[in-house]
Amino acid sequence: MLKIQGGHPLEGHVHISGAKNSALAIMAAALLCSGDCRIRNIPSLADIKRMSDVLMSVGVSLSHHEDCLDINAGSIRQSAPPYELVSKLRASFFVIGPLLARLGVARVPLPGGCAIGARPVNLHVRGLQAMGASVHIEHGTVNAYVAGSGKRLKGAKICLDYPSVGATETLMMAATLAEGETILENAAQEPEVVDLAGFCRAMGARIRGAGTKTIVISGVPNLHSVDYGIIPDRVEVGTFLVASAITGSELSLAPVIPDHLTAALSKLRAIGTEMRMESPNRMRVIPSRVRKACDIETLPFPGFPTDMQAQFMALLTLAEGSSVITETVFENRLRHVAELNRMGADIRVKGNIAVVQGVPKLSGAPVVATDLRASAALVVAGLAADGTTTIQGLHHLDRGYDDLEGKLTKIGAKVTRCSDDSVVVPASEARASSKTPSPVSAE
Ligand code: UD1
Repeated sequence: MLKIQGGHPLEGHVHISGAKNSALAIMAAALLCSGDCRIRNIPSLADIKRMSDVLMSVGVSLSHHEDCLDINAGSIRQSAPPYELVSKLRASFFVIGPLLARLGVARVPLPGGCAIGARPVNLHVRGLQAMGASVHIEHGTVNAYVAGSGKRLKGAKICLDYPSVGATETLMMAATLAEGETILENAAQEPEVVDLAGFCRAMGARIRGAGTKTIVISGVPNLHSVDYGIIPDRVEVGTFLVASAITGSELSLAPVIPDHLTAALSKLRAIGTEMRMESPNRMRVIPSRVRKACDIETLPFPGFPTDMQAQFMALLTLAEGSSVITETVFENRLRHVAELNRMGADIRVKGNIAVVQGVPKLSGAPVVATDLRASAALVVAGLAADGTTTIQGLHHLDRGYDDLEGKLTKIGAKVTRCSDDSVVVPASEARASSKTPSPVSAE
């Protein structure tokens, strides 16, 4: 459990870690290359450990020093990571693209649904088929292979029904080693897709248009060694922006790339928070005393990110007036509402829409985290609430936030991690000994 004593102002500077979603995709992309890959700015997360386990299960050698990950996929022995590992982390399915491109065969278990939705992989599969792969799904595993002597995928024109981040990444990786040109239409434009393209280009891939709706990849026969630093985590930035706004505390955050946060920053301004760039990548957040209600609809990038919806909902519970939040990306991502209501919020849900009527205060309560960003929402709500909030289900938080409570403690939050009601240990010590993996991993 995390125990938060609310109502304490925050102050100081927060260092932002590398982006989880970039790191996971880029680790999968390291499978494309037989040389050494060094990835810098890797966050310390349970999900990174899980992805490392998936890569090692197919014969990759991997070593981790501080925030640096060295990967060598020179001798991949296996094309079939085991279900026990893939089912713990949805993003591990993304290895299907690079495995198929590199070996001409890949057998990857379906990751299944999770806390926030059904999460099918039909767009990944259809795209690989368009590139010439034979794919059949049997006994819960996607079996894909490329026939012919060269076993190379063929470039194709693919229009995604929806700009799925994962499908864009899978197909972009697969296309880097394909024969000829692949054109991905209606591609995801998320910064993590651009980061993955940057990594692949640094290995010699020929990709243009990443960050727009059309990505063009000209296949090359092989890729070379690389040393690459990943972007800062925009969702972690968003979470600390909300922590600042909800507690009325000035904070400075770095490194931050404001262009990755346009939609979130514009909503924060509408709520009344001011942001100033103190240097090109250092942001100061100056909250106002009065928070105004505002409507939010989650959308693919550059729209408002689904990964920040829960945290902004927590903030809007304390705004003046009524806000309407519409979740359009995942079908089951409003489960934090019941927990926020336990803390005194006034939120009603119908389908994928939540109506948040602002209240003057939240009160600390025992609550349960249902997924990664829901747990972050409960943490920020707990920082602002009167009294003590205890949050159960911390394995979600450890999946996606690099030392969140350590960073919060440093800026003055009263946060402790405890194994049960009677044993309380400092956040940093407890975190080191409690990396219990969760059975189902969202995002
Ligand atoms: C990624 C992010 C996650 C983020 C999400 C949306 C990673 C590791 N995770 O997840 O944090 O919340 O993008 O920004 O990068 N869909 C299909 N068929 C498919 C693929 C997706 O119907 O083949 C649907 C999904 O069910 C969902 C929507 O498309 O409703 C968006 O999913 P997608 O963009 O693929 O998310 P992920 O890549 O899984």
